[in-house]
Amino acid sequence: MKYFFLSLIALAVMVVGVFGFRGDKFSQAPIQVFPDMDDQDKGKAQTANRFFADGLNSRKPVLGTVPRNAQAGVMPLEFGAGRSGYYFDGKLDGTFGNGLPKELEIKEESDMTGLLGRGEDMFNVNCAICHGKAGDGKGVVSAYFAQADPIIAVPSLHNFPQDKFPDGYIYEVISNGKGSMGAYKHNLPVRDRWAIVSYLRALQASAK
Ligand code: HEC
Repeated sequence: MKYFFLSLIALAVMVVGVFGFRGDKFSQAPIQVFPDMDDQDKGKAQTANRFFADGLNSRKPVLGTVPRNAQAGVMPLEFGAGRSGYYFDGKLDGTFGNGLPKELEIKEESDMTGLLGRGEDMFNVNCAICHGKAGDGKGVVSAYFAQADPIIAVPSLHNFPQDKFPDGYIYEVISNGKGSMGAYKHNLPVRDRWAIVSYLRALQASAK
């Protein structure tokens, strides 16, 4: 028994001797029994890396990614920044126009079904959270909007008929936002915005 306690004390001294007390400061790298994600593998800028074919650690931006606040020219063409014409700004002869822009190349029925399908997907991803899947203004978030301020309630999109609110105007609202609704011109390519306009018209027709 005597030896047991003695060896226990000796062991404790050894453990403390090797690992030190908790919270002690070291000048050398600590012994890591469990690394606990203290270190991470990383490549530092301007150094070599054999993992990549070009041997460089510094990488170029991923193709197709867009810096925030990108100016025309940097922004990929499909987002239409700084361009004019009905397809890009919704305006015909200076006022918001109606109808599908020719750039969408809708020739056959299947083209239209494709556009509407895309519009449905993009509407459900980007708009339904506020305006509701049916466009009735009853999305999950709308209750909170109403709570915060009844005046900025999310509107039902069924109340925006084509004669008073032309397609080009809806396109403009999607692109640049309105009031407490944000702009989607950085998130949605021009074609997708038009697809949503078409889908919105279909929603309105089905609500009648
Ligand atoms: C964060 C919630 C939110 C999202 C997401 C949202 N909207 Fe809105 N939307 C609003 C609110 C709030 C208004 C009312 C703005 C106002 O009149 O001040 C509005 C207004 C509108 C209007 C009417 C504009 C007018 O003249 O009064 C249209 C059309 C519209 N949204 C379409 C869309 C479409 C299409 C999307 C998806 C790309 C979308 N919204 C996404 C909250 C949202």
